[in-house]
Amino acid sequence: MRLNDFKLERFFARFEFNAPYLLCTSDCESFTIAELLALEKNAGKAFNKLHLGYTETLGNPDLRREISRLYSNSAPEDIIVLAGAEEGIFIFMNVLLGPGDHIIVQSPCYQSLSEVAHAIGCNVTEWFMDAQNNWELDLDFLKENITRQTKAIVVNFPNTPTGYTMPKEMFNELIEIARRHDIYIFSDEVYRFLEYREEDRLPAACDVYDKALSLGVMSKSFGLPGLRIGWIAARDKALFNKIASFKDYTTICSSAPGEFLATLALRNKEYILKRNLDIIKANLGLLDIFFKKYAHLFQWVKPRAGLLIFPHLKFEQEAEAFCLDLVNKKGVLLLPGNIYNYDNHHVRFGFGRLNMPEALKKFEEYLDNLFAVGYH
Ligand SMILES: Cc1ncc(COP(=O)(O)O)c(C=O)c1O
Repeated sequence: MRLNDFKLERFFARFEFNAPYLLCTSDCESFTIAELLALEKNAGKAFNKLHLGYTETLGNPDLRREISRLYSNSAPEDIIVLAGAEEGIFIFMNVLLGPGDHIIVQSPCYQSLSEVAHAIGCNVTEWFMDAQNNWELDLDFLKENITRQTKAIVVNFPNTPTGYTMPKEMFNELIEIARRHDIYIFSDEVYRFLEYREEDRLPAACDVYDKALSLGVMSKSFGLPGLRIGWIAARDKALFNKIASFKDYTTICSSAPGEFLATLALRNKEYILKRNLDIIKANLGLLDIFFKKYAHLFQWVKPRAGLLIFPHLKFEQEAEAFCLDLVNKKGVLLLPGNIYNYDNHHVRFGFGRLNMPEALKKFEEYLDNLFAVGYH
């Protein structure tokens, strides 16, 4: 298998740990170990006594139980714990797909959602969200592109990078289309629980369709990417068992401290999610003001969930050159759309971090200076 470079990860590798103002990160503000341990009396003592032997391949039973509580129709036995969401994408594609198979992938997307399939020799149809129509998806396109070789539909709501979340009625129709054709849905739900209004939360795909796999992780909504704990929830036992067997060749089992802290965080999920949503909502208010002020430079779609947006640049300069100049001059990092193999006229903003207001202010200084000196 020959994988092309992961453009987004290569871009972050250059800047993430030296640019002071990260205005495009995809996760919520994180926590320290001490902050997590303070959530429960005796947690610190138990953590100190944690045994650092190998852990169970499918994941610690307490953790699998806590994860299953995020779902309405999936049991602890339907959960396999993985090293982040990334391992879930890699293993799912490897166990399901072969050369000549076909998948349909919502686009633009986190690159591995299409790249791993592509590297396997699978034909990939990109199902584009419509930038002219609030990033909506067209179900007719989906229906027209399903073939006898189609093995899976890959979706991601709330979406990276657009922030788009499908309306519930459409999501139900999507499930029915997959059911009619008897194909899998791989549903990347790493931003689930960050809906601004609970009624906008979609059901987890694995809860409503027995050939759906839901991908979850501690990294995004919970703000704990350093734990490297993710999971797949799936009720299709044959596929589940293949995923478990494949894991013997990737990570075998998860890190014991990661599992301990993820279990603790999930027991306290209401607190963590509320803190994260409070930050996001406050930052979204600032973006509202920002995009009104700079309406002549950017066009954005205000999301209903998550912490990412993908505004269109209304000026001539290409996104990549714009982002590089911005980070070099002001230390503010935005992510250019060409990283997503999309056009070079969109940029990704992320607004889950506490220092986002400061980063936005620096960005405003940059814009005011750039456009005051007459760039067009
Ligand atoms: C949509 C999506 N899926 C999966 C991942 C991978 O998550 P993790 O870093 O936790 O493995 C990311 C990370 O950016 C993502 O944005």
